[in-house]
Amino acid sequence: MSMRDTPMRSGPLAGLALAVFATSLSAAEPLPGIQPGSQAPTLGTPMSADDITSWNLTIFPDGRGLPPGQGTPEQGRSLFVTYCERCHGVDGRGATADELVGPPTPPTDADPNKSIGSYWPYATTIFDFIRRNKPPENSGSLSNDEIYSLTAYLLVANQIIGEQDVMNAKTLAQVKMPNRDGFIRIDAP
Ligand code: HEC
Repeated sequence: MSMRDTPMRSGPLAGLALAVFATSLSAAEPLPGIQPGSQAPTLGTPMSADDITSWNLTIFPDGRGLPPGQGTPEQGRSLFVTYCERCHGVDGRGATADELVGPPTPPTDADPNKSIGSYWPYATTIFDFIRRNKPPENSGSLSNDEIYSLTAYLLVANQIIGEQDVMNAKTLAQVKMPNRDGFIRIDAP
């Protein structure tokens, strides 16, 4: 079938499209989003450096992307009671939402525990996860110090770091999670 014979050309829709186009031309206005004389659409606006910073949240396993700030397990414990306990339960043992603290049984155990302490390969991801999502009804509201504190508390509760350990960009990246080597690593090309 040649282009000349396509149903669209002779069908009622083709007539409608032509009529709309003719109206636009007669009004002599540029089509929305197209600069006069240009074929390319000019949609959206350039992002400012501040816009990019607020979206650029990725924290890499080795700690790249961790912001300045610091926090202690003790500060984190009271933040946890305020913001997290109602879903994650007393001491993070689970309630309506998953437990965040469990026995340190490795995933290879007959009765494996998959909470962050025994399952997650990197501690830096805990910071990333809390910063993006928590608390769910008001994500983005916690300060970096508060997030370091909550991360520190969860690490103590899972028996990974000590009560006195201060978490910041340097120390958090140095934490070695028990299941660090339990995942198959796939390097992006
Ligand atoms: C309104 C209920 C609610 C509140 C409050 C809440 N969470 Fe959650 N959280 C959930 C649910 C549901 C999940 C599982 C689904 C998901 O991943 O979002 C979850 C998952 C998580 C996980 C991942 C668990 C895993 O092993 O995959 C972490 C870490 C976490 N929450 C931390 C926190 C922290 C820290 C706070 C407080 C600042 C908090 N949550 C407050 C409901 C809540």
